[in-house]
Amino acid sequence: MTDHYAVVGNPVAHSVSPRIHAEFARQTGQDLDYVSLPAPLDGFAARIADFRSRGGKGVNVTLPFKHEAWQLAEAHAGYALAAGAVNTIDFRNGKIIGYNTDGVGLVQDIRENLRCAIKGKRVLLMGAGGATYGVMEPLLREHPEQLVAANRTLQKAIDLVGHFENLQRCSVRGVSARPYPELRYSRFDIVINATSAGLTDQMPPLPAGIFEPDSLAYDMVYGKRTPFMKFAAEHGARVSDGTGMLVEQAAESFFIWRGVRPQTAPVIALLKGVNSES
Ligand code: ATR
Repeated sequence: MTDHYAVVGNPVAHSVSPRIHAEFARQTGQDLDYVSLPAPLDGFAARIADFRSRGGKGVNVTLPFKHEAWQLAEAHAGYALAAGAVNTIDFRNGKIIGYNTDGVGLVQDIRENLRCAIKGKRVLLMGAGGATYGVMEPLLREHPEQLVAANRTLQKAIDLVGHFENLQRCSVRGVSARPYPELRYSRFDIVINATSAGLTDQMPPLPAGIFEPDSLAYDMVYGKRTPFMKFAAEHGARVSDGTGMLVEQAAESFFIWRGVRPQTAPVIALLKGVNSES
C-alpha cells in the first residue's frame, strides 16, 4: 500500500521537496507519494488534521508554519525542542511528533559534502530569526572553537545566545552576540548566512576582512547566487548555497519516516544541474 506524505507551506508551489522525496523513494524502493499542500495562513492546523485523517503518515513543514508546527506537536524529538521550530512531523502511535532536521542538514552538508570540519573552527552565524534558531544546537554540538551570532537588530542576537546558554560549554571560546561593525577586526573559518537578505537580493552589512583564503561562506538560501555569495567569492572565500542542506534535511526526514537512509549526492547533483540550466 502506498504511504502518503506532503510538504505544507504558504506559498509551497515552488517547493522542490516532492522532487527530492520522489528520487529518494525511487532509489530506496519505498512505496510512497509526496505532494505539495498549500495551507491558508490561518488554516495550518486544519490542513494537518485533514491530511492525517485521510491516512497521511507524515509532513514536512515550511514557511511560515514552522513555529506553529512546534506548538501543534504533542512531543518534540531530536533538536526540535530547543529550536522552537518543527520542519518534520511524524504521525506515529497516534501522536503528532515534531522534529527539526534543518540543522542536521546544514551540518551534514558542511562536514560531509563540503568536507569542512566545524570542530575547532571560528564560526560566524548571521541572522537571529527562525532559520538561525533551527541550526544553533546541531552547530554547537560539533564543538566549534567559537560561535559568533551577528544580527542587524542586536537584541535579537543577544536573545538567541541567551536561549542556547546551556550549550555555551560546547565551544572553547563560547558563544557571543555582536553587531556587524564590530566584526571588522575578526576572522572566521566558516561564515553562514541564515538571514533572509538574499531572498530580496540584499546583503548583510558584513565587513570585507573577515575571510581567510580557505574560509567557507555558506548561504542557506538555495538555487540562487546571493549578494553574500558574490561578495564572499570576491574576497577569496570558498562559496556554497544551501542546496546540499535542503537535500540533507530531506534525507533526515526520510530516515525518520522510513528508517532508510537515501543517498544524497546524486540528488544534490540533479538539483544543482537544474539550477545551473535555469
Ligand atoms: P527566518 O525565519 O527565515 O529566519 P525572520 O524570522 O524574518 O526569518 O528573520 C530574518 C532574519 O534575516 C533576521 O535576523 C533579519 O535581521 P533583523 O532581525 O535585524 O531584521 C535578517 N535580515 C533580513 N534582511 C536583512 C538584511 N538586508 N541585512 C541583514 N540582515 C537581514
